[in-house]
Amino acid sequence: MTARLIQAIHELDGVLDSIRKAGRSIGLVPTMGALHAGHGRLIDAAVRETECVVVSIFVNPIQFDQRSDFERYPRPLEADVAFCAARGAEIVFAPSADEIYPRAQRAFVDVEVVSEGLCGAFRPGHFRGVATVVLKLFNIVRPARAYFGEKDAQQLAVIRRMSEDLNVPVEIVEVPTLREPDGLAFSSRNNHLNAAQRVKAALLYRALQTAARTIADGEKDARAVVREASAIFNGWEDVRLEYLEIVDPDEMQPLNRIDGPVRVACAAWVGSTRLIDNILCKPSAS
Ligand code: PAJ
Repeated sequence: MTARLIQAIHELDGVLDSIRKAGRSIGLVPTMGALHAGHGRLIDAAVRETECVVVSIFVNPIQFDQRSDFERYPRPLEADVAFCAARGAEIVFAPSADEIYPRAQRAFVDVEVVSEGLCGAFRPGHFRGVATVVLKLFNIVRPARAYFGEKDAQQLAVIRRMSEDLNVPVEIVEVPTLREPDGLAFSSRNNHLNAAQRVKAALLYRALQTAARTIADGEKDARAVVREASAIFNGWEDVRLEYLEIVDPDEMQPLNRIDGPVRVACAAWVGSTRLIDNILCKPSAS
């Protein structure tokens, strides 16, 4: 299978117009490239559920809080196009920064509250950059459905809220996190870990599992759950917990009591690599 690589918006317009005229539904998978099996899950879901899949690959400058992080971001375009083709995507849209931001950007999407806690508190402007580029991609591609990973649950909540509050006519589809056998979520950042760090990276999922068990056992006090789960990180060299919190799954705001489904989210540094993960937890029925 081959996928068509398109870099200009006007060219994409022409191709998508004829796909729409033919009555074929369009699915969009927004990515920043350096594709791995986790991204593959999103493409697979889109291929199953829509008739023409567009994978966008764009390393979005306005969502990086560190310039060096943006510059260092891997851009293996040829391998990415082959990856998309092998999974059945029809179009890879990989615009340049000038194509997406031809002049100084003056309009931005701010999703209040949802974007303020967790990663938002540590990465100022990040979710504003994400929401803005995702809305631009929605307007460029005009998909029926767009696919996002539960791995980045706060990003997903921000995009869902943007779409609902601004009546964006795109169905947002959530795809479960794909994990390595030891529970570590697939991420392009895992490549930065050396062998010893790679072992420690599994602590995030272990901490989340501890929280899930404590909640399932009936603990209602969020602080007690956080204490128990955070202890997993104690005593490990080269590992620093940035946050571990229990939040409302829609508002992404911290909770004191656990009375319904909650999202447990954490971020930790292993060496100089920042990893994030989260799971949805339900309390016992009693
Ligand atoms: P990126 O980090 O490339 O991720 C693209 C999509 O893949 C996101 O929706 C993310 O949640 C999903 N994903 C990553 N790892 C996953 C895993 N292990 N299992 C399931 N899904 C996974 O997220 C972005 O790009 C950008 O912020 C973007 C939305 C493209 C806007 O620039």
